Amino acid sequence: MSRAFKTILVTGGAGFIGSNFIHFLLEKADFDGRIVNLDALTYAGNLENLADAAEKFGGKRYFFEKADICDRAAVERIFAEYAPDAVVHLAAESHVDRSIHGPEAFVKTNVMGTFTLVDVARAAWKGRTDVLFHHVSTDEVFGSLGDSGYFTEATPYDPRSPYSASKAGSDHLVMAYRHTYGLPATLSNCSNNYGPYQFPEKLIPLMILNMLEDRSLPVYGDGRNVRDWIYVEDHNSAVWEIMKRGEAGRSYNIGGENEWENIRLLDRLVEIVAEESGKDLERLRALIVYVKDRPGHDRRYAIDCSRVKKELGWSRASSFDEGLRKTVRWYLDHAEWCARVRSGEYRKWLERNYSSR
Ligand code: NAD
Ligand code: DAU
Repeated sequence: MSRAFKTILVTGGAGFIGSNFIHFLLEKADFDGRIVNLDALTYAGNLENLADAAEKFGGKRYFFEKADICDRAAVERIFAEYAPDAVVHLAAESHVDRSIHGPEAFVKTNVMGTFTLVDVARAAWKGRTDVLFHHVSTDEVFGSLGDSGYFTEATPYDPRSPYSASKAGSDHLVMAYRHTYGLPATLSNCSNNYGPYQFPEKLIPLMILNMLEDRSLPVYGDGRNVRDWIYVEDHNSAVWEIMKRGEAGRSYNIGGENEWENIRLLDRLVEIVAEESGKDLERLRALIVYVKDRPGHDRRYAIDCSRVKKELGWSRASSFDEGLRKTVRWYLDHAEWCARVRSGEYRKWLERNYSSR
């Protein structure tokens, strides 16, 4: 069985993973239908990420709708106007630190926004089975691991930050709509993504840009928290395989099988930035500073992604070293993009919340 879609509604398409997903669908995937990008353009949404796609495909295969997923009337209008036969739901508040400083937006968008979307989809699709709601979620819903073990699809939920709690709520709503109303839905829980267009509040782009600007490199706590890293296009190719051939009602873990302690990752990143930018390696190393830990900082995430590999034949294409180097080059080649996203609201937020560090 392989699903084919005519019109895919991508929520959060102006964000990091969403804009990469839209590029992937338009330029690389076996998909020749239309994409509607629904995005509220929060601080994390940037249409510049899709300027080339809009120029090439705008009004033909690519459409943009500025809307909030919590705004039921707007979501209903978009469903009525474009009649999507698939939704890929990426729109979210996505940064753990922000959820610690201001949880309310996370509950609104991630919980209420997801509720609005599944409810409108259920009403619009009226029991159809040739449609799909794919919800993109995170491995953080499973909590924190010790030194050993992996999250599987059967791991009980144990979210520990306002971000992961709100994502867990959204996952449960999607699966409840599947169970109760038969909404054709799939779910994926992925580990830490990195790659082009990632907003520089997240570890890898923040560190790259700080190195380029000779700013300090703040390592939370002892730097020994572990994350599993995946190149964004590998995440997106897995989501696409799930959309085409995943079983409705099932969840799939996606990961890079690539665990790194933060400080080890930073050591490697410093070397790559030095090689690619010509900056002095020792001067970059000297920028590393240990700062106060993130409250409730999860110690280790690690993903068992054997289901998506065995059942859907997915595997990642990029090694970590290749992916990191491509990412560093992308940030070096997009200095104007970096300067624009590093100004404005983002800087004000950093100054408000991190001036003590
Ligand atoms: P991001 O913050 O870069 O982008 C989020 C996008 O959603 C932005 O374009 C923003 O404008 C939009 N948005 C936010 N609130 C909205 C609202 N109320 N209505 C409409 N649009 C809204 O996030 P990302 O890193 O690209 O993550 C995308 C999704 O993938 C999220 O659901 C996140 O939980 C999930 N995820 C992310 C990672 C990761 O490492 N980044 C890993 C696993 C899962
Ligand atoms: O695991 C998937 C999740 O990965 C996604 O669901 C989230 O949307 C995404 O933001 C990411 O969450 P993390 O909290 O793991 O990512 P972040 O880049 O914020 O931090 C990665 C690790 O680096 C974490 O252990 C905290 C640490 N860190 C982060 C920053 C920003 C630092 O040591 N210093 C920093 O300045």
